[in-house]
Amino acid sequence: MYITALFSIKGGVGKTSTAVNLAYLSAASGVRTLLWDLDPQAASSFYLRVDASIKGGIEGVFEKNTDKRIKGTDYPNFDLLPSDWSYRNLDLYFHAQKKPKQQIRRFLQEFSGNERTYAGAYEHIFIDCPPGFTLLSENILRAADDLLVPIIPTTLSLRTLDQLLEMTALPKCNHLRILPFLSMVDGRKRLHRDTMTQLQTQRRVLRSYIPYSSDVEKMGLRREPLVAYAPRSAAGHAFKLLWSELQNRVATLKQK
Ligand SMILES: Nc1ncnc2c1ncn2[C@@H]1O[C@H](COP(=O)(O)OP(=O)(O)O)[C@@H](O)[C@H]1O
Ligand SMILES: [Mg+2]
Repeated sequence: MYITALFSIKGGVGKTSTAVNLAYLSAASGVRTLLWDLDPQAASSFYLRVDASIKGGIEGVFEKNTDKRIKGTDYPNFDLLPSDWSYRNLDLYFHAQKKPKQQIRRFLQEFSGNERTYAGAYEHIFIDCPPGFTLLSENILRAADDLLVPIIPTTLSLRTLDQLLEMTALPKCNHLRILPFLSMVDGRKRLHRDTMTQLQTQRRVLRSYIPYSSDVEKMGLRREPLVAYAPRSAAGHAFKLLWSELQNRVATLKQK
């Protein structure tokens, strides 16, 4: 089981759009894939036409039979653990548990360890995180293999990335690979082009980047992954390149 979290301190940077498209591409490649929509705003659940509510809320996920909470999507191999409005209280819930920073890790380990359950069979889990740096974020850092971080190339982005790298240099997070990539790149803007070059030369960002495109915004109208309805669009192509870059890294790690 491989865990990729779409993570940023900021909102509105492309986490959800990327999570939905990459999870779709993973599933389309034949990998049994689960997307966990951990943001109470429930955008991933909305895009995938799944009702954003869970019987029993947070307790229903962490303390009851998770299999029953998982929903299928319209696509083969692709399931969703939906959002629920109660997720806004995840920090409070974790805080009341014995090991508050290990909750997601423990949950996902049990989940994968139990081969008899439906949930045990996922090969790749994507987590769509809410913005911020909270107890939930610390849980994600300990649970994920990859942290995929969308960066919009603006003047403050270098600083934001450095802040994130500092914040994520935590104990018990040595296994974690932080993979920043450029998101919503507007090639017409000089500032975007310059910042992009600066980030690519001075920081370790992935080669693939997602261009700014109204095709991505249309996901809200279509309620489908962009790569499903416009696979040949510039942004669709970019998501596919990002997926193959990520896939190559996963394959390399599995060989080690
Ligand atoms: N590459 C892109 N080009 C244009 N609009 C985008 C792009 N990526 C995301 N958006 C739009 O920006 C908004 C925020 O994107 P979203 O993926 O929900 O970010 P986050 O999950 O980080 O809050 C959404 O309205 C989405 O449609
Ligand atoms: Mg989001």
